[in-house]
Amino acid sequence: MVTDTPLCIDARDLSFAYAKGPPVLDIPELTIRSGERVFLYGPSGSGKTTLLGLIAGVLNPPPGTLSVLGHDIGALSSAARDSFRASHIGYVFQMFNLIPYLNVRDNIALPVRINSERKKRLTGRLDEEVASAASHLGIEQLLDEKVTRLSVGQQQRVAAARAILGSPELIIADEPTSSLDANRRHAFLDLLFANVADAGSTLLFVSHDLGLADQFDRSLSLPELNRAGE
Ligand SMILES: Nc1ncnc2c1ncn2[C@@H]1O[C@H](COP(=O)(O)OP(=O)(O)OP(=O)(O)O)[C@@H](O)[C@H]1O
Ligand SMILES: [Mg+2]
Repeated sequence: MVTDTPLCIDARDLSFAYAKGPPVLDIPELTIRSGERVFLYGPSGSGKTTLLGLIAGVLNPPPGTLSVLGHDIGALSSAARDSFRASHIGYVFQMFNLIPYLNVRDNIALPVRINSERKKRLTGRLDEEVASAASHLGIEQLLDEKVTRLSVGQQQRVAAARAILGSPELIIADEPTSSLDANRRHAFLDLLFANVADAGSTLLFVSHDLGLADQFDRSLSLPELNRAGE
């Protein structure tokens, strides 16, 4: 990786605590370059999802401590962070966060449908791209089903397809393969890496499955980055 590649994520003295709770994160420095594929690991409760939530603007970091794609996330209002996320970040949430009253097709299509920047980056028609991603992930026969009727592993694949569509500059995936069998895991990783390579996206991927780490450019241990709780 060339060192003058711009930074996608630049965190300095990034700290965070939930209301009235102890510090969860205190990270002196974390930098991820554009186009890097980074594997993040650490024990349950070590703060991985919290860090992803800060980077994606779901949680609010202190101003001046976290820049993502050149934006000072802590300086943005909650609405501006939501809009920034919708335009630039594909997020596979650990708990999926699917829209319960929409079917599979509309869940996958929603981020692109409501965001013009992601729509512009589509290479084909939206319905074709939805069908293609669903087919890669083996959920094409479920497109008209309500997501509340799916198995957990099927829901996880809907969440994965939704995050990839419209080639966001940054893809954040929080244990996206935890409910998938080996074949589905392979299919998902193939699709993810192909999309990331085609679009030049940055990938930040959390997993407890350390066997996946060698498919990434770099691995980071959260406890090694984090001074909170030491
Ligand atoms: N909404 C919340 N309110 C208060 N505390 C929280 C909240 N979410 C997480 N925490 C606390 O923050 C710490 C880090 O949690 P986090 O979910 O970031 O861990 P994690 O590394 O993602 O764990 P896992 O591997 O189990 O998903 C934990 O001590 C947890 O109890
Ligand atoms: Mg987590």
